[in-house]
Amino acid sequence: MTMIFHCFRCLPLIWVVIPLFFFSLMCTFLSYYGLREFRFDLINNVEAVKVEEIVGDVYHSAEIFRMNYAEMEKDFKIYLYPDGDYMNNKHLISGWYASEGYFSKNLRESSFVTDDPDRAHLFFIPISCCHKLQQQVASYKEIASKIGKYLGIIYSYPFWNRTLGADHFFVSCHEVDIEATVGVPRLIKNSIRIACSPTYNTVGYFPHKDVSLPSVMYPFPKPAGRGHIHNRTILGYWAGNCNSALRNKLVKLWGKDQELDIQNTTFYKAGRMQKFYGAKFCICPAGSRVTTSRIMMAIRYGCVPVILADYLDLPFSNVLDWQKFSIILKESDVYRLKDILRAKEVADFRMLHNNLVKAQRHFQWNTPPVKYDAFHMVMYDLWLRRHVVRY
Ligand SMILES: *[C@@H]1O[C@H](CO)[C@@H](O)[C@H](O)[C@H]1NC(C)=O
Ligand SMILES: *[C@@H]1O[C@H](CO)[C@@H](O)[C@H](O)[C@H]1NC(C)=O
Ligand SMILES: *[C@@H]1O[C@H](CO)[C@@H](O)[C@H](O)[C@H]1NC(C)=O
Repeated sequence: MTMIFHCFRCLPLIWVVIPLFFFSLMCTFLSYYGLREFRFDLINNVEAVKVEEIVGDVYHSAEIFRMNYAEMEKDFKIYLYPDGDYMNNKHLISGWYASEGYFSKNLRESSFVTDDPDRAHLFFIPISCCHKLQQQVASYKEIASKIGKYLGIIYSYPFWNRTLGADHFFVSCHEVDIEATVGVPRLIKNSIRIACSPTYNTVGYFPHKDVSLPSVMYPFPKPAGRGHIHNRTILGYWAGNCNSALRNKLVKLWGKDQELDIQNTTFYKAGRMQKFYGAKFCICPAGSRVTTSRIMMAIRYGCVPVILADYLDLPFSNVLDWQKFSIILKESDVYRLKDILRAKEVADFRMLHNNLVKAQRHFQWNTPPVKYDAFHMVMYDLWLRRHVVRY
C-alpha cells in the first residue's frame, strides 16, 4: 500500500522530468542546427526588405510598374522547348554576348519555368547562344537552315499553330543570329525577338513586338560609379574606332576640342576606362552596328550617356523614362554637340547623374538574379506582351 502510494506520489514528478529532458535535448539540437538556419532566414529577410522599392523619377509610372511587376512575379509562366542537339547549354556569362547567356541561364533556373504548357503564357525557343553554332557551321545560310530544321520540331507541337508563333520568343545577341534568323521569315514574322541590336530601320526588328536587350561586355573591369560628381571635370568623352560616318564626323568636328575629349583610337587597348569616372557626359555614337553596350558602360560608371543614334529602341523604354537619366539626340545633332552639353551641364547634370545611379540596378545582370535587375526587366517586357489571341 505504501509502495503504491509512493509511486503515485512520484508519478507527477516523472511527467515533469521526462518532457523537460526531451525539451532540453531539442533546444540543444536547435541551437546547433535549427537556430543557425533560423538566423540565416532572418538575415535573408532583412536583405529582402533592403531591396529599394520602386519610387522616384526614372519611371513613367512607378506605381503601375510596381503593381504589374508584383503580378508578374506571382503569375508569369514560361514553357521551355527541349534543346536541339547543337544548342549550347553552358551559358557564357562573359564576353560580348554575356547578356544573352545571363538571360538564358537565369530563365532556366527561375521559377517562371513550367512543365505544363497549359499554364504557360509564353513559349521559349532555345536557339540562343548561337556563338556555338557559329563555330560549327560556316555561313549564315547554313545557320538559317539549321534553325529552320529545329523549328520543324517546334511546329510539330500543337502550340505554335494556335498563334502562328505570337506567344513564342527567342533571344539573339550575336549578329550571326540576326542575319540567320532573317533567313527564317516564319520565325521573324510573329514571334518575339529579344535582341541586342534593337534598331528599327533594319529588317527583323519591330519595337511593338520585340524586346530590346541591354548588351554588355562582361565582366566590367571596374566598380560601379556612384556619386563623385566633383571628380567629373571633363565635359564629354568618347574613344573608339571610326567605323561609321557619324563617328568620323564626331572626330573631325570635335577631335581637337579643349572641353570635349574625343579620340579616334582602339578603345580597349587604350585602357581609358578611368575616363568614365572623370567625365560628366559619355558620348555613345552609333557605330557600324548599333548596340547598347557603350550605353551600358556609361550607366555602369555613372557617366550620363549621350545617345547619338537614330532608330534605336532603348531597353525598357516602356518602363524607364530615359529622358531623366540620359540625353537622347539625333545623329544630326553632332554639329551642335558642345552647345547642347554646355547647356545641360548647367541645367540638368546633377539631376541626370543622381537618377542614373538610381537606374543602374535595372541594367545589372546577376546570377542568381535579383529583384528588378536586368533579367527581371526583360521578363517584365515579355509579361507585357503576353496577351495574344489563340485559335
Ligand atoms: C501546323 O500547321 C502546319 C501548316 O499549316 C502543318 O503542316 C502542321 O502539321 C501543323 N502542326 C500541328 C501540330 O498541327
Ligand atoms: C575622386 O578624386 C579623388 C581625388 O580628388 C580620388 O582620391 C578618388 O579616388 C576619386 N574617385 C573616383 C571614383 O575616381
Ligand atoms: C582614325 O584613325 C585611323 C587609324 O589611325 C585612320 O585611318 C582614320 O583616318 C582616322 N579617322 C579620323 C576621322 O581621323
